[in-house]
Amino acid sequence: MDMMKLARVLDREDPLAGYRNEFVAEDPNLIYLDGNSLGRLPKKTVEVINHTITEEWGNRLIRGWNEEWMGVTDRMGAKIAQLIGARPDEVILTDTTSVNLFKLAYAILKLQESRRQIVSDELNFPSDLYILQGLADIFNQGHIIKLARSEDGITIPENSLLNLVNAHTALVTVTHVCFKSSFMYNMETVTRRVHGHGAMIIWDLSHATGAVPVDLNGSHADMAVGCTYKYLNGGPGSIAYLYVRKDLQKQLFNPIRGWFADANPFEFQLDFRPANDIHRFQVSSPPVLSAKAIEPGVDLLLHAGMGAVRKKSVRLTQYLIDCFDKWLKPVGFSLGSPRNPDYRGSHVSIRHSEAFRISQVLIHPPDGEVIIIPDFRAPDNIRLGLAPLYNSFEEVCRTMLRIREIVDKKLYEQVSPDPGKVT
Ligand SMILES: Cc1ncc(COP(=O)(O)O)c(C=O)c1O
Repeated sequence: MDMMKLARVLDREDPLAGYRNEFVAEDPNLIYLDGNSLGRLPKKTVEVINHTITEEWGNRLIRGWNEEWMGVTDRMGAKIAQLIGARPDEVILTDTTSVNLFKLAYAILKLQESRRQIVSDELNFPSDLYILQGLADIFNQGHIIKLARSEDGITIPENSLLNLVNAHTALVTVTHVCFKSSFMYNMETVTRRVHGHGAMIIWDLSHATGAVPVDLNGSHADMAVGCTYKYLNGGPGSIAYLYVRKDLQKQLFNPIRGWFADANPFEFQLDFRPANDIHRFQVSSPPVLSAKAIEPGVDLLLHAGMGAVRKKSVRLTQYLIDCFDKWLKPVGFSLGSPRNPDYRGSHVSIRHSEAFRISQVLIHPPDGEVIIIPDFRAPDNIRLGLAPLYNSFEEVCRTMLRIREIVDKKLYEQVSPDPGKVT
């Protein structure tokens, strides 16, 4: 069947198609494929934030804390817990992903002080590696960071990671779905084998939560961190979350002893006494506006169900790869993501020596064509993020045809090869 016809059939049969109406998506001339960087705005969020500002902040003022705000980060933690296979008292919204990784990695290195090895991989998000490098400097005890190599720049074979783990390893931390290639680890196998060496693991779920089913408890994972501005649609720079398995919570210490990590912050005691639960990993007063902005996006995912979200995600990414093989592979592109869906998240990277300039033509079409927003990741990746709640098969088809047209007509030759700041 003709690929566009197929796309239309798949869209007609898509049980999640109606969710697009729950998002602000008014521009018919825009195809948005960057939900893996910044998710779309749920319509309900506009209402929630307006209400929080005008009614709660405007009229209730400081009373808002006791009336509702104090419980928002717990409530949201409990909802996110349902998306990642955790208990409600194991997840909390707090700080940013990088800060949370710092706190949890510090706690593990302190707990496992006699072990001086940290293991990660070279496809990890650089911020995560910078945090580890900073911790090794802070501890100043000769910690060594070992990175598993990727031969193809796309996947990390499990053994290349796990062969680095041994009796000297304190901490393994990797990203469940890699930011560039979308490669996805098997969480259960990796966690089990890391535990076999007495090491502990922190999963970065930033590109996984809301995109693929995650089962932290089922995998017996120790800890996790993740952001809320991608598939959770929480808004630019929205507050992140962390997970600490219940039985570990009292054994670990948060290195940033802010008052919200104290057992009773409003007693204002001069000496710190850590909270005995997940609250010990908080630091400061919660950013209420950001926390509340996350709820509508999370509610939509819970309503749709991660099983249905994953089913559509696999279909969308597979459909994209089929279009890729037909139209883009013959004109100099290579696939930058795994072909096996068991090892693929919800974005697909396609690689081309002119990837940057092609992505610029997609975003700023000189010929008045449809605007398509993917993102570019150096050196040669165009990342196409497929958010099952609002992307359609037809959008994927139009994007792939457009990329072929840009290459056939060499439209990218009109663009300067100088990347801007945020890509
Ligand atoms: C996998 C991953 N980890 C960490 C981060 C950093 O998150 P934050 O800016 O909240 O520290 C990002 C940001 O996109 C990311 O994709």
